Amino acid sequence: MTIGVLHPGEMGAAVGAALRAAGQTVVWAPPGRSAATAKRAEEADLEAAGGLEALASRDVVFALCPPHAAVAVARAFPRFAGIYVDANAVSPATARTIAGLVDRCVDGGIVGPPPRRPGTTRLYLSGADAPFVADLFAGTMVDARVVSENLGAASALKMAFAAWTKGTSALLLAVRAVARAEGVEQTLLEEWQLSLPHLPEQSMAAARSALGKGWRWVGEMDEIAGTFSAAGLPDGFHRAAAEIYRRSPRGDYAAEDEALERMLAALARPASSRDAGPTRDDRESPR
Ligand SMILES: NC(=O)c1ccc[n+]([C@@H]2O[C@H](COP(=O)([O-])OP(=O)(O)OC[C@H]3O[C@@H](n4cnc5c(N)ncnc54)[C@H](OP(=O)(O)O)[C@@H]3O)[C@@H](O)[C@H]2O)c1
Repeated sequence: MTIGVLHPGEMGAAVGAALRAAGQTVVWAPPGRSAATAKRAEEADLEAAGGLEALASRDVVFALCPPHAAVAVARAFPRFAGIYVDANAVSPATARTIAGLVDRCVDGGIVGPPPRRPGTTRLYLSGADAPFVADLFAGTMVDARVVSENLGAASALKMAFAAWTKGTSALLLAVRAVARAEGVEQTLLEEWQLSLPHLPEQSMAAARSALGKGWRWVGEMDEIAGTFSAAGLPDGFHRAAAEIYRRSPRGDYAAEDEALERMLAALARPASSRDAGPTRDDRESPR
């Protein structure tokens, strides 16, 4: 059994390391990838296998990349006889599109951080071959669970979970930004201390996460919005959350208060552009 990982990002490298610890051979494709990806792959003891075509002869391939790239990654992967596991944060519809591009597909959705110790991270799986993929993780730090044989169910679970966690984080950042814009942020903080004392700290944590990963969550919020829309529900919550994360600067800041200041500055618009309808950038930004 040899397994490929497309690509060893934070999550892909950690999932690869879990499979290595279970005795599997795990390979990756260096062409086009950054030095950071190569370093993670090396630290996870993954073997460099040449280009994508070298992964096509493997038994199982895990796709773990930014959600907005999930379909393109599947499309660029040579057809192969193994099992393609798309474990990205995508909508059930996107999961089914990916399934249509490969011979055998398992849909996955991960909840929790990159696994470094047992009990933190669940890999939800759906599709006919889901039990086979779940068995690969027996005894590892990844808690693999089969949701259903209906492909797309694992992605639906991930969308519903992240709709709350990342959606409410974006809302909290927007709330602080609007309170600041209207000059009542300090009074809001004092009211929060009285009635919702967890929110000041929660908003700082939201800012810190957004600076590190917000750029990647834009695609995830759009996938969640698509999931709501397909279910006949309003998609505006997560279209707005995507916009909040789209405006977030890219960086990793140690201090939460500094992260919050950077995030609120990025969310703020010059007074002249407020109430003037969408800006040119708004109209042209991809949805
Ligand atoms: N990290 C988490 O805590 C977490 C938790 C749950 C689920 N997930 C899911 O896991 C997936 C991967 O997340 P991650 O945290 O591993 O992301 P990441 O650290 O940003 O890594 C993404 C990997 O994909 C590659 N990549 C970037 N842009 C690409 C593109 N346009 N086409 C193909 N490959 C590309 C990157 O390679 P280069 O940078 O070298 O180009 C990198 O190796 C996402 O779907 C995410 O939602 C992550």
